Amino acid sequence: MPATKESDSLDAKFYKPADAFFAGYSHLGLTYDDVTLATRYSEVLPRDTQLDTTLAEGLQLNIPVVSSDMDTVTESRMAIAMALNGGLGLIHYNMPEREQLSEVSRVKNNVHGLIQEPIKAGPDQLIGEVLELIAKKRFAFSTFPVVDGQGKLVGLLSGHVVKPRYAKRKVAELLTQRSQVHTLTKKELGRDPIARADKFFTDHPGINKLLVVDDQDRLHGLFTMSDIERITQERNAQFKPARDAHFRLICGAAVSATRNAFGELDRERILTHVGGLVERGLDAVAVSTAHGHSRGVGDAVRMLRDAFPKLPIIAGNVSSAAGVEFLADCGANVIKVGQGPGSICTTRIVAGVGIPQLTALYVSSRAAQKKRVALLADGGISKSGDIVKALTLAQAVICGGLFAGCPEAPGEVLEIGGKLYKQYRGMGSLAAMKEGSAARYGHTPDPARKVAPEGVEALKEASGSVDRVLAQLIGGIQAGMGYLGAANLAQLREQARFIRVSPAGQREAAPHDVVELKTGS
Ligand code: XMP
Repeated sequence: MPATKESDSLDAKFYKPADAFFAGYSHLGLTYDDVTLATRYSEVLPRDTQLDTTLAEGLQLNIPVVSSDMDTVTESRMAIAMALNGGLGLIHYNMPEREQLSEVSRVKNNVHGLIQEPIKAGPDQLIGEVLELIAKKRFAFSTFPVVDGQGKLVGLLSGHVVKPRYAKRKVAELLTQRSQVHTLTKKELGRDPIARADKFFTDHPGINKLLVVDDQDRLHGLFTMSDIERITQERNAQFKPARDAHFRLICGAAVSATRNAFGELDRERILTHVGGLVERGLDAVAVSTAHGHSRGVGDAVRMLRDAFPKLPIIAGNVSSAAGVEFLADCGANVIKVGQGPGSICTTRIVAGVGIPQLTALYVSSRAAQKKRVALLADGGISKSGDIVKALTLAQAVICGGLFAGCPEAPGEVLEIGGKLYKQYRGMGSLAAMKEGSAARYGHTPDPARKVAPEGVEALKEASGSVDRVLAQLIGGIQAGMGYLGAANLAQLREQARFIRVSPAGQREAAPHDVVELKTGS
């Protein structure tokens, strides 16, 4: 039952809408754990909530989550996983421009379910060498297509013969001959490759790998039955992949406001590179820097807006209303908010600058409303509840640390003391800046020059896949919306009522006075 007028007004005294709440704390910087949201009368079941969000014309996500443009978070594999789940990946720029173009192409050309660069064996390799590779890379599979030096298919090395007892035998001796290997040509895949592969597995009981070749019999990819079965189930999932008008997965990429030898914006280089990205089907470019409310970033955004009138432009980072208005006036459609909240950031310690994230989001959101631009809440998100709070003020969130432990993030798994980890480092850490991201922090890329790093190099515990991490996060977001009676993200923004939490309230919010056997995640 909706509440009576009297109890409504009592609630209103304590649980305030954003404008009243944040105005009351104009002297204090607040972040996620400093506040909690009040429950509201609800007729909304969590599973019925809609999470789609429009960031710009032509840039619509089915879930409001973006993976960060960091070199230990987003390359093509992460961007594919994000888009398949309905989100967006921003490919980082700590790589040669040529390579970033290929990374974007990989996402745009991805055929879901087809492993386009399967791990291969060579006919002259020893089975022992293949076993070593499996151990070193921790592969969970042991069947490999075998190709010759020209990439032509020679046969299939089945897991049945990849055994230590055959270690000294050559792959060529034990492989299943080409004539007996089932293949389809690229052309035979048709418009719905998943349905075609699914039919193949139904028609060939006992076969669980299907190779795809081109007209010259060069290996083009590999389908596995388990992938196809998973995908077929996922087709009924609530949140569809985020695709462009041509049914390709969406993809974003970051660029920096690079300067030439004279210290001026390197217009030609930036325009040529972004032109190449657009040709490959890029859906959004992100001008990513630590200080977005600055002349260089403004000039870069203005130049890109003039050259690519329809391209969605993301720009940042800022933490003020003036910063949002500035970038919006320069032509950005989406503004990244966050200076120093990230899990690997030290900007506030090193530079003494930055605003606790929720206050930064509130101030920015009011300018964003005025300028009709969208906001991305970037950094500092460590749990799904933080996302719910962020979405009361922003159109989507950017996460780095939450995805850095996933197998889809770049980098190897490291074993330390019996536990598995992946590297996660700030783009302002010394190591990342040496590899190219110095411009983001206003430094020259010359490692001999003394620079003050604004990020740390760290480790994250290896986690489950992006699918699993996102399933947890989305479950949490939907639960939060159910509590607030919000059927969609616009209603979440309207329904949000905030209250400040005391330190005792923060302790109360986490498990307490128990011996925890399993974490909630
Ligand atoms: P989370 O908390 O998701 O934060 O790990 C990721 C975001 O942090 C920002 N970022 C940095 N900020 N120094 C900083 O002050 C850095 O070295 C750094 N590297 C990344 C970035 O906005 C990212 O999305």
